[in-house]
Amino acid sequence: MKVFVTGGAGYIGTHTLLQLLAAGHELCVFDNFSNASPVALTRVRQLSNRDFDLVEGDIRDAATLRHALADFAPDAVIHFAGLKAVGESNDKPLLYYENNVTGSVNLLAAMDAAGCRRIVFSSSATVYGEAQYLPFDEDHPIAPTNPYGRTKAMVEGVIADWTKATPNASAVLLRYFNPVGAHESGRIGEDPRGIPNNLMPYIAQVAAGRREKLSIFGDDYPTRDGTGERDYIHVVDLAAAHLAALEYAASKTGCEAINVGTGQATTVKELVAAYERASGRSLPVEVIARRSGDVASSCAATAKAADLLRWRSEFGVDAMCESSWRWQSGNPHGFAGD
Ligand code: NAD
Ligand code: UFG
Repeated sequence: MKVFVTGGAGYIGTHTLLQLLAAGHELCVFDNFSNASPVALTRVRQLSNRDFDLVEGDIRDAATLRHALADFAPDAVIHFAGLKAVGESNDKPLLYYENNVTGSVNLLAAMDAAGCRRIVFSSSATVYGEAQYLPFDEDHPIAPTNPYGRTKAMVEGVIADWTKATPNASAVLLRYFNPVGAHESGRIGEDPRGIPNNLMPYIAQVAAGRREKLSIFGDDYPTRDGTGERDYIHVVDLAAAHLAALEYAASKTGCEAINVGTGQATTVKELVAAYERASGRSLPVEVIARRSGDVASSCAATAKAADLLRWRSEFGVDAMCESSWRWQSGNPHGFAGD
């Protein structure tokens, strides 16, 4: 299949490219490198021993996007490109709406012009907001609590409307839970700029000695040990879900939202302990106040993914931490080390 991959140079994108290339798909990556390094794509080429097209461009630039899609004439699009920092979205909401929502509208218009009717979209469990019940199934009410989450919910709506209005269109909205870990080679992984916003890359930098200690945001939640619990999903499992979603999209029309998680919740303290085992290092932590906006628990119902995509996660938190540590210890400065 010819697959156009927006945001393909990023964390989840590069892991998915490797599996797409291994499966023999022909690819065009479209990325503005606002949160990625070209070195990541060089490593994907080395690891896969395969080449692919690259267009450096911005999804907000409708003309460039239209030309890129018309030139490549894809059978399907995987749409990773987007901004993803919750805190930043509170400070710069218009940047988020323009990048994530306007960019996605531009993409669908360019797909229309190129006659492409199949899309897999990176959505997020954050669209559910505060849990009314757990695990979150796909019918849980959608009530995001921050601008980032609202952009994801809006784009889901835009894609659903586009699917209804476009004959033979097919869309899969993948609602990721908490993606972590790295490729087994240790050559690609998550490379956040500045201070990491998320738990796993922060732990990794503490283990590597780049940060003094981890601040645990609250230990008075109603969980096993009082710290927040999440459904961490290995990025390699997540990448595999995209291949399954592409196949599924090719087999039907209409729009489906599908959770991508493991169905298992892990607390902050449990993840720290797993990372200590994986790295062989003891990690200094201090408990501080809760982070505003955080929920106690999040966990995916996984039946729909198993049923429709025939996909299930394989890896547990130990494998997630081991792969993260291989990447972190082998690339202490991320892709900037090259
Ligand atoms: P990432 O930042 O590593 O990757 C996003 C990629 O999109 C980057 O390569 C960036 O340069 C590119 N990009 C951003 N804006 C662009 C624009 N206007 N035009 C062209 N390219 C642009 O993030 P990721 O973790 O790989 O996430 C991929 C997608 O998955 C995002 O849409 C994100 O919102 C979503 N998601 C991520 C998580 C997570 O925790 N990582 C969770 C749920 C959903
Ligand atoms: N945490 C700490 N210390 C830190 C960072 C996080 O204790 O330095 C805790 C949080 O309080 C939470 C857990 O670790 O209990 C996970 O926090 P993350 O920031 O890693 O993940 P979130 O679940 O808060 O949010 C992430 C992404 C969102 C996405 C959501 C669901 O940031 O964009 O997962 O996919 F929507």
